[in-house]
Amino acid sequence: MLPCQRYLFDIPDSIAYLNCGYMSPLMKPALEAGTAGLARKAHPWELTAPEFFSGSEEFRAVAAQLLGSTADCVAIVSSAGYGVETAARNLPVKKGQTILVLDEQFPSNYYPWKRLAEHTGAALKIVPRPSDYDWTAAVLPALTSEVAIAALPHVQWTSGGQLDLARIGEECRKIGAALALDLTQSLGVLPFNVSDVQPDFAVAATYKWLLGPYTAGLLYVAPKWHKGIPLEEGWIQRANARDFSSLILYSDEYDSGARRFDMGERSNFALLPAAVRAMRQILEWGVEIISATSGAMNQRLAEAAAELGFSAPNEPLRAPHYLCLRKTTPIPPELTHVLAREKVYVSVRGTSLRVTPHVYNTEQDCERLIACLRRIA
Ligand SMILES: Cc1ncc(COP(=O)(O)O)c(C=O)c1O
Repeated sequence: MLPCQRYLFDIPDSIAYLNCGYMSPLMKPALEAGTAGLARKAHPWELTAPEFFSGSEEFRAVAAQLLGSTADCVAIVSSAGYGVETAARNLPVKKGQTILVLDEQFPSNYYPWKRLAEHTGAALKIVPRPSDYDWTAAVLPALTSEVAIAALPHVQWTSGGQLDLARIGEECRKIGAALALDLTQSLGVLPFNVSDVQPDFAVAATYKWLLGPYTAGLLYVAPKWHKGIPLEEGWIQRANARDFSSLILYSDEYDSGARRFDMGERSNFALLPAAVRAMRQILEWGVEIISATSGAMNQRLAEAAAELGFSAPNEPLRAPHYLCLRKTTPIPPELTHVLAREKVYVSVRGTSLRVTPHVYNTEQDCERLIACLRRIA
């Protein structure tokens, strides 16, 4: 367990921010790195051509450590939706086949597949929410021979249920289905390694559990898709991009590895240094330790909330960092406003009250949430 790291963040004692699943606070060193990066645009004459590439390579290298991959397999994207759309553009599927998604899956990992199904005549197959919260047991029998693509998260975002991706990946390979993952609610806080899971594509926005800025994301692309079609045909994704004077000598060749899938203007001098700084900090703490730290707070919260009539799945069906509390009746969305008036911040997602602590939270933060729930819920 990690001692409280609040000193690295600008969170007043009066705030009980238990809402990393919504958006993490940017830590002070990441804010400094981003601010210094933004300031560089005030002096463009100091920005050299190689720096359009070096910062991006640093981002790729650090992201690769969190994924257990190589930098060559990492593309820089703006959002989870951008990464999912890239996967949908490249993974083959045809009429008579199906694309598998979960019930209540996050929209950015649903709409691209819905459109792909409509375009190709494939069917969208939705795994119903299991009453026992065991998403893995619900997904495995749904992986039948007609499934061409399984588009899944590591953690189902309205229940907190976690999927055994290594087991699911193995089953996908058995039936010849591609596996596309949205890791936005898990990467950086739930151990993950591409060599265990072997996904085709895996995306994560950085602004939640990667503690990064908004509008920056990483996309893992398995080597077998490195010759695929990117969403954008810009200059910087091309093999000749490093020579600024010769860009109009148009090249049919892309830059190597997953770099062809980068978003346009990916060399973001403000966002990338902030994201890199945050990811380095996560690596220094260690993902397993972050998971245990957040998980211990959630375990205590789950026990205290149970006495107030809330229920939640138990670990390991539930991801340690992601507690979705339910009652027999749906949680009214206004509850978050009532709690916010007490400076206690959580979310309502679907029918659950979602509590997502991180290493900046204290025992007092958790006690304040329980005290508020005792009074008002
Ligand atoms: C599971 C999941 N995926 C992705 C996102 C963000 O998607 P995007 O980066 O496309 O805005 C969220 C945000 O809440 C999420 O919960």
